[in-house]
Amino acid sequence: MLIQLNSKPLADFDDPIGVLEDCHRRIEGFLEQLITVTDMTDETGTLTEPAALTMIGALRYFKNAAPKHVLDEEETLFPRLRASGDPRVKETFTQIERLEAEHARTDELHASVDATMRSWMDTGVLAAADLAELRRQLEELREIYTAHIKVEEQHVFTLARDVIGADEQLEMGREMQARRRIGIDTTRPLSALVTEVPARARVFDELGLGYCCSGTTSLEDACTEKGLELADVVRKLTAAGAGSAATRDWSDSSVPEIVDYIVTTHHAKLREVLPHAMFLASTVARVHGARKEGVVEAHLSFAKTATVLEQRTDTLEQDVFPKLVELPSDEAARAELLESLDRMVQAQDSVNAGFVQLHEILDDFIVPEGACTKHRTMLATYERMEADLQACAQIENDVLFPRVREQLTSS
Ligand SMILES: [Fe+2]
Ligand SMILES: [Fe+2]
Repeated sequence: MLIQLNSKPLADFDDPIGVLEDCHRRIEGFLEQLITVTDMTDETGTLTEPAALTMIGALRYFKNAAPKHVLDEEETLFPRLRASGDPRVKETFTQIERLEAEHARTDELHASVDATMRSWMDTGVLAAADLAELRRQLEELREIYTAHIKVEEQHVFTLARDVIGADEQLEMGREMQARRRIGIDTTRPLSALVTEVPARARVFDELGLGYCCSGTTSLEDACTEKGLELADVVRKLTAAGAGSAATRDWSDSSVPEIVDYIVTTHHAKLREVLPHAMFLASTVARVHGARKEGVVEAHLSFAKTATVLEQRTDTLEQDVFPKLVELPSDEAARAELLESLDRMVQAQDSVNAGFVQLHEILDDFIVPEGACTKHRTMLATYERMEADLQACAQIENDVLFPRVREQLTSS
């Protein structure tokens, strides 16, 4: 069963409160899955295979990903709200304290639900009294979350969007991202970043950032000192790490050349890798779904992302790119093309969010103990695919689309 986050694209970490709201949709969805498992069970307490598969994914989420949401609130959001000094925040202090107390209670309930369900999976049967208690605990979780999420979204988050400045919200996003070990940790020293990925040295050289003797400065501080935009530097480093041509100087390349490069390099690679990645995801889910946490859920999540990716690639090649090579002269067609570019960026954001979700489900692609070759290959494939997609997106977002937008709006 897929978790429907609603039809809007998922928020990225530049909108940390949006990310928190998306997490709420996952919490609600996965909790409903656990409740469905108990609903699917008859009075004998026998666990069916579909119920077990549903349960594994949901338990995995509550054990590994949901606690990060609590930390996002308790360590990243609430302290900033409390420190804001805004008089309206003072009125919510009691609400925030209650939210923290509820986090403690939901932690207890999840621990108990987890223990019961895992032992149920081991034995295949649950005694009637235990099943009744499990249902009661899940019902309590549902009640708490319903009220809790309402208070957070209608009061606390709304206020946070108002009183926490734009720069600080970006900082919150970076903290939350680092908590999930996604992307480049901007608080690390330059020397450590180069040791990790030597190709980053070229980017630092180009930008005049010293990574040898003075390399103990963090990336954030180094950017501030040099007046560089941190987000731009991170993008360049990501592309360098991907070993791509994204850091190449495209200024002398024409739009048809850039389009041709994307199609023959990145799209060709994607078309080759995607079916194999789907095959690996489904095989690992089918063979190891009952034992290895996350693989069924990862398969479903990746299938959704793969669909968006395929549609986006087809639309670019069949509809958007031909128009970029020969820009339409008609006003309405030009306006339509600008809208198409926005839709392509949104689709890319959805793909990025899909990979964020995959990172959450699969422990940042760290190979688990006892993983078979297919499982290892699947994780390595996701990692390579993500790096290549980021490199391709960088060429589109930094070079191709801005150039076309400028041509469309200036003539
Ligand atoms: Fe909360
Ligand atoms: Fe929350």
